[in-house]
Amino acid sequence: MKRDFITLSDLGSGLPEMLERTAYFQRVRGTSDHPLPLAGKTAALLFDKPSTRTRLSLEIATVELGGHPLVLDASASQMSRGEPIEDTARVLGRMAHLVTYRTGAPSKLDGLARACSAPVINALTDTAHPLQVLADLFAVKSERGRVEGLRYVWVGDASNVARSWIEAAGLLGLDLALATPDSMRPPVDEVELAVARGGRITVTGDVEEATRGADVVITDVWVSMGQEAEAAERKAVLAPYRVDAALLARAARDVMVLHCLPAHRGEEIDADVVDGPRSFVWEAVEARLHTSKAVMAWALEQD
Ligand code: CP
Repeated sequence: MKRDFITLSDLGSGLPEMLERTAYFQRVRGTSDHPLPLAGKTAALLFDKPSTRTRLSLEIATVELGGHPLVLDASASQMSRGEPIEDTARVLGRMAHLVTYRTGAPSKLDGLARACSAPVINALTDTAHPLQVLADLFAVKSERGRVEGLRYVWVGDASNVARSWIEAAGLLGLDLALATPDSMRPPVDEVELAVARGGRITVTGDVEEATRGADVVITDVWVSMGQEAEAAERKAVLAPYRVDAALLARAARDVMVLHCLPAHRGEEIDADVVDGPRSFVWEAVEARLHTSKAVMAWALEQD
C-alpha cells in the first residue's frame, strides 16, 4: 500500500520516529552517507498557491535525495482550465514517483491522493500544514532535547498550522493552550479527538492567562492566502493577540517563539520579537529541509 502524508495522523505512533529520521538527515547532509531513495526518480511538486519555504525545501530535498524535482504551477497547467483533479492525479501517477500538493480545500488534496498511484504529501491546505509543524517540533527538540513536558501556547487564529499543532498535541501528549478569539476557534471535534488521544488542550480568549509561563509561543499571519477580502475585520479582531515584548515578559525566561513565516512585523508579531533572541523561526526554516527529506523518504517506503 502506498504511503500518503495528508495529516500528521498518517504517521500514527510514528511521529517521534519521524523526528529521529529528521535528525538523521540533518546529520548526513553533505556526506557520502546521505541516502538517495529518489535516484532515477521524479517528484512532481504541484502548487495552487504561492510558496517560498515549502517550494525551496521540497525542491532541494528532492535533489539531495537523488531525484529530479518537477515544479508544476497549477495556473500554468490544464487544471486552470477545469481538468478534474482526479485526471491530473492519474497523469501524475503514471509519470512521477512522488507528488506533493499545496492547495486550499482539503477535498482537492484528498481527491488527488485517492486517484494518484504515487505517494502524495500535503504541502499545505486550508486545514493543515503538517510539514511546518514537524519542522517546528524538530526546532524545539533540537533546542530543548525533548518535545514533551513543555507548555505550548498558540496565539491568534486557529489556522491550518494551529490545527496541525492540535493534532501533534494529541499524538505526542503535549500541553497546548490556544489563545484565540471566539470567532476563530478550532473545530471542536478536532480538539476532542486530540484530547482523547492524550493531548492536554485548552482553548481560551484570555491571551494574558494562556501565555503565563509558556515554554513555546507560536503564531501565524492574521490574513492568510485567500482571506484578503476580510483583512480589515480580521486585523481588528486579532489586535489583542499580537506577540510582543509584553507577552513574552509573561512567558518563561527561555521561551521559544515560532512563526511559520512570512511574518508581518507590527501585526501578529513585533520586529523585536521575531528578530530577537527568543525567536527560533530560522532554525525551523532550516528544519523544513530535513523534515521534507524525512517525509519523502518515509513515503517512498511502501507498506
Ligand atoms: N511556512 C511556509 O509554508 O512557508 P511558504 O508559504 O513560503 O511555503
